[in-house]
Amino acid sequence: MKLLSGINARANFLKSLKRQVANLKKRNITPTLAIILNNDSYASSVYVANKQKLCKELGIKSKLFKLPASTTNKQMLALISRLNKDKKINGLFVQLPTSDKIDDDAVINAICPDKDVDCFHNQNVGKIWTASDASNLIKPCTAAGVIELLKFHRIPMEGKLVAIVNRSNIVGKPLATLFLQENATPVILHSRSKNTKEICKQADIVITAVGRAKFFDQSYFKKDAVIVDVGINRDANNKLCGDVNVESLKNFIGWLSPVPGGVGPMTVLMLINNLVILTKKQHGGK
Ligand code: GUN
Repeated sequence: MKLLSGINARANFLKSLKRQVANLKKRNITPTLAIILNNDSYASSVYVANKQKLCKELGIKSKLFKLPASTTNKQMLALISRLNKDKKINGLFVQLPTSDKIDDDAVINAICPDKDVDCFHNQNVGKIWTASDASNLIKPCTAAGVIELLKFHRIPMEGKLVAIVNRSNIVGKPLATLFLQENATPVILHSRSKNTKEICKQADIVITAVGRAKFFDQSYFKKDAVIVDVGINRDANNKLCGDVNVESLKNFIGWLSPVPGGVGPMTVLMLINNLVILTKKQHGGK
């Protein structure tokens, strides 16, 4: 089995980002990211801290707006409107999930599409689905992280059957369109699909993202498949693990992305990559 490590891929991509940020700084432009957080979940605070840590490493400014869970939708929209107008802010996002009072769809679509580092706004989602070439567009971060991980390890995608076990707006749907951009043949599978195992077993590339610890055993994969594990779970011993039962993969000669250390290290980079793309556009770039 070969490891689709995200550690080397991250280091390589980070170098390119550092170069681009340094070039912007030479023009007296410091990319600035606003982060809105209104839940008290431990996981969200870790994700936000990771995003801020990378900003610091790259010399990018980040501003955290920590709102109480009692924040109303109206107050949230007012803050977004202010940040949309603020010329010093190049990108912003609202960490999901939000508290009960917030209408996520309204909030996502209130963010100015030119500052939408998550690439969740309907307009940006539409663009990546309709572009004949999406290479210069911003892209949803987890999906973009998967594609960059495969590219770094020179995994051929053209003409390959890709089984994506997830139909969310954050992972499955954007992955389908990004795989189409690579001339692959994506199939989205979900909880109501009738023959998930048979389709996975035929697939050249399988993306597992069901959020169930060690759910996929060897019977789901052909022996030389490329498996990208997007799951982040805790096993019975509270140890971090993915959706794939690694111990069950006997005689497997394909590729597998580890958890941790696979897709995870790539996703935050993609958010900052989107910020850099948007900052350049705001300053007259393409
Ligand atoms: N929560 C989990 N994943 C994401 C993400 O990619 N973006 C935002 N804003 N919140 C998340």
